[in-house]
Amino acid sequence: MTSSSSHLTLKEFCDSNYKGSETYDGLETVLYGIASGAKNLESQIRNGNLLGMLGATGDMNIQGEIVQQLDAISSDTFVQEFKDSKQVAMVGCEEIEHPVTFGDSDQHKFIVLMDPLDGSSNIDVAVSIGSIFGIWKREPSTPLNADLLLRPGAEQIGAVYVVYGSCTVLVIATEGTVNEFTMNPKDGEFYLTSANLKYPDKTPYYSVNDGNTAKWIDGIVEAVDQLREGRSQRYIGSLVADFHRNIIKGGVFLYTADTKNTVGRLRLMYEANPLGYVSVQAGGAVSNGIENILDIKPVELHQRVPLIIGNKMLVEQIIETVKKT
Ligand code: AHG
Ligand code: MN
Ligand code: MN
Repeated sequence: MTSSSSHLTLKEFCDSNYKGSETYDGLETVLYGIASGAKNLESQIRNGNLLGMLGATGDMNIQGEIVQQLDAISSDTFVQEFKDSKQVAMVGCEEIEHPVTFGDSDQHKFIVLMDPLDGSSNIDVAVSIGSIFGIWKREPSTPLNADLLLRPGAEQIGAVYVVYGSCTVLVIATEGTVNEFTMNPKDGEFYLTSANLKYPDKTPYYSVNDGNTAKWIDGIVEAVDQLREGRSQRYIGSLVADFHRNIIKGGVFLYTADTKNTVGRLRLMYEANPLGYVSVQAGGAVSNGIENILDIKPVELHQRVPLIIGNKMLVEQIIETVKKT
């Protein structure tokens, strides 16, 4: 067993990869903010049942979904971290109807879109949940308005996610590379545990909500039948945790449009785009069935999208099958 002292800390990693670089300078401060928020939330999630912090707030969010106490706590935690970083100009968040604006100085050079707590239905049942962040650059002097958030996923300069699972991992993707850090609960530090993650060639898993079968078009029924051949189904119901398993072990996740979710269920700006960016940097793909999701020109902060994400060959196989059926 190796001790955490033999692994690079997040700070050591950022110092050698981002500090002083033209594109990424300042990103380290945003990443430390995410790490600090994640560490804080990790402890609240672990103790939520004892602290009476599980269950709903009684409010509905802009999506018409019930807001859990931890949804609200996560949203407030990361909003505060980004404000304090003094590097983030604006944040768009699943739990907040309109963008939150922090400052328009030249130092405020990043824009973040986030799902602060992904997998809300798993909060109360001790199952993995997570947080998702897409990061875009703001050109100096660009005025702050809601349109500034509506940029294609391909323009992200980085994306990050956290999984609060059997251990807590923080995964950071920037151009061409994906790196996984694991939190040591003893000191709250994140240590580099997998450098330059890529999807394995083998694909033992597929992730889909089988309960939607009767609502799928024939092409998706056929595509999922093909996936079943020689693969195991794994569906956690927390996109970020399903995604993480598939990137490490090999597989694909799909939540396509159906007769109930006619435009898809998952959100473009803070679920599909950030995880799509990670997927592509790890050698995988992301599609809405017609085009690369990262090429979509967004029209609305909270818009939904059909999502097929994971191993490139499987994403292409699903698209081909739908086309032929
Ligand atoms: P959120 O908790 O941020 O609202 O996201 C929940 C999403 C996603 O994490 C998951 O894959 C999906 O909802 C599950 O939906 P179903 O319950 O319809 O399968
Ligand atoms: Mn989510
Ligand atoms: Mn959420």
